[in-house]
Amino acid sequence: MTPGANHLAHDHRSDDAAGEFMADVLAGLAQPQPLIPPKYFYDDTGSRLFDRICELPEYYPTRTEMQILEQSAGDIGKRLGERIVLVEPGSGSSAKVSLLLKSLHHPVAYVPVEISGEHMLSSLTPLRQQFPNVEIIPVCADFTAGFTIPAVSAPVARRAIFFPGSTIGNFPPEDAAALLAQFRKLVGAGGAIVLGVDLHKDAGVLEAAYNDAAGVTAAFNRNLLTRMQQELGAVLDADGFGHRAVWNAPESRIEMHLVSRHRQSIEVGGSTFWFEADDFIITEFSYKYSQSGIDALAAEAGLRVGATWLDTHGWFSIQYLEA
Ligand code: AVI
Repeated sequence: MTPGANHLAHDHRSDDAAGEFMADVLAGLAQPQPLIPPKYFYDDTGSRLFDRICELPEYYPTRTEMQILEQSAGDIGKRLGERIVLVEPGSGSSAKVSLLLKSLHHPVAYVPVEISGEHMLSSLTPLRQQFPNVEIIPVCADFTAGFTIPAVSAPVARRAIFFPGSTIGNFPPEDAAALLAQFRKLVGAGGAIVLGVDLHKDAGVLEAAYNDAAGVTAAFNRNLLTRMQQELGAVLDADGFGHRAVWNAPESRIEMHLVSRHRQSIEVGGSTFWFEADDFIITEFSYKYSQSGIDALAAEAGLRVGATWLDTHGWFSIQYLEA
């Protein structure tokens, strides 16, 4: 195989991904309030739909975070220093990292970690062309299940994790702290985490971002049902469920739901789950933070906030976390 070609030397996907999906669906639908973990949104179709969400006028997180990166990548790069290995869990189409890589001094390697292998690989060709001196080592893994950073050929000064997009917000706070602690261990002593975190703001802005007029978020949400049909042999009517996203102020999170339009069942894995009209499945939480909430989260993970950068509205933040 040609060095640097788009292939996966590091495929850590479980041999039984379908078995895990089935187990999580069966356990989740059996809850008093049914739920399915959001990580199952991201098959190839879901990853492509998510890329479209990022371009929607209502979905401000991507735009605002790009604005911060455009304005402040130089400062972030200075803090990160020379000869770093940059690891990006859940890299998707690696759209933001080039802004950061451009501002780094002699970066050694970039390690995108993504569950959806094909989607990741197809996005790496332009990056390899733009950064011919950076070793690009894709790892195919569910980063929530843990992974290791592959060895690189050149000497390395520091490891850093780039975790943009406020993906941290998709984890309940206690799981978010555990994930950040796992990242802290991965980067080791002297390492850093560059974390994108969405902030509190007007509920109207938040709800519009998850209920776009073009219906892309609705398709993204419903793709979960299509995946269950295709991969688990589930018998269900995907059109029988509507998309809803609501701001839950006491919990400080957007919740995405699939709402049953009428009485119906989902048959999967030998079990039948009944839904009355208006019963719903929770498919995602997207927590929004205050700066004091982020400071507390970092502290719980054994980290401290060394610097914070904001967009002009103060809607989104990039946090520099160090052990
Ligand atoms: C990936 N994650 C940060 C997105 C979010 O905003 O919580 C996922 C998403 N769900 C609906 N729209 C976008």
